Amino acid sequence: MSRKDTTEKINADHIKKSVADFYHDIATEKQKTQVDTNELNQSIGYSAEEIASAPEESNMGLGCGNPQEKAKPQLGETVVDLGCGKGFDAFIAAKAVGKEGYVVGVDMTLQMIQRAREIAQKRHFDQVDFRLGEIEHLPIADNTADLVISNCVINLSTAKQDVYDEIFRVLKPGGRIGISDITLYEDLPDSVYENPKMYGT
Ligand SMILES: C[S@@+](CC[C@H](N)C(=O)[O-])C[C@H]1O[C@@H](n2cnc3c(N)ncnc32)[C@H](O)[C@@H]1O
Repeated sequence: MSRKDTTEKINADHIKKSVADFYHDIATEKQKTQVDTNELNQSIGYSAEEIASAPEESNMGLGCGNPQEKAKPQLGETVVDLGCGKGFDAFIAAKAVGKEGYVVGVDMTLQMIQRAREIAQKRHFDQVDFRLGEIEHLPIADNTADLVISNCVINLSTAKQDVYDEIFRVLKPGGRIGISDITLYEDLPDSVYENPKMYGT
């Protein structure tokens, strides 16, 4: 079977379902990452201060870089975090923008959003708002964000152009983007390509 046929077989809906199932299991701790999350985050570009500024329970070790390393949030800014998970990057951004700023985290996994909201409430992060939604259809008004960040999420989308259209819709003129993600340099073996489960990892 050709790659084209395989893509049609494992269609966008199946991929989406498999990604949703994967992160449901992570959010509910049915499946856990087997890494030292602090060590991992330092190795992918977070400073010790940034790690310490976010509640430990929001740190799942699922990122693949630090989206705020170059596009640093500034005091008073509005930041949007695409695929926020339990809020690790959103909480770091919240410290940076301060009480005058605002951070919106968006994630399609209900259990991620519920947990992120609980953490925000318990740790008094009043300037953070976690919203259930898809990054292809952001629940955010036009021209509202100074900065859009995302950590290892856009690669999971089957409609990447829609995600970028949405980023440009919600950004104010002159707004910034900080994305850390993965790209393919070589073709994947068929065993990976044909396995819907691998689309979530
Ligand atoms: C690799 S995890 C990263 C979580 C977070 N950025 C972090 O670093 O801790 C991917 C997250 O993106 C969410 N996600 C995946 N596809 C999404 C989509 N199309 N729309 C919204 N959220 C999505 C998942 O629910 C999951 O929480």
